[in-house]
Amino acid sequence: MKYSDVLNDMRRALQQQPDANSAMEVAVQILKDRIPDYTWVGIYLLEGDELVLGPFRGKPSPHTRIPLGQGICGAAATAKTTIIVDDVNADVRYLACSIETKSEIVVPIMDGETVLGEIDIDSDRLAAFNSDDRELLEHVAALVAQKVSSKMRKTVTP
Ligand code: SME
Repeated sequence: MKYSDVLNDMRRALQQQPDANSAMEVAVQILKDRIPDYTWVGIYLLEGDELVLGPFRGKPSPHTRIPLGQGICGAAATAKTTIIVDDVNADVRYLACSIETKSEIVVPIMDGETVLGEIDIDSDRLAAFNSDDRELLEHVAALVAQKVSSKMRKTVTP
């Protein structure tokens, strides 16, 4: 499995999606299906000062709404930058989703300087995420952002 192939397939699949919700569903599905280390894959969208869980693949998470001040998710959205945690049990910010989770990556979905949401991925393997994951997921976040921001524009424009 090559990340460049995953990204090309993602680009093609997202282009065909009629709206933001189907685009987010397809994005989490492709990432979960294609990358074995990705145990839990979800997208949170920012609503006010809370991150609200949207489409996900993996076990249900207790964290369906995360205030910006909490968790690795809140930290990434506040800092507007990708965060990789090699060992979640050594990070005081970590909000546990599953006891099997060992490492995590959170990638903000941005529209310019505005945070729309984020892609959150957990792995059952320690230090499962590196700069290749970061690069792939930042590209995916940019593709998803195009769909999500057009949804938000449609919401405010009659
Ligand atoms: N671990 C995240 C919470 C979300 S669950 O992993 C799905 C965090 O620390 O923000």
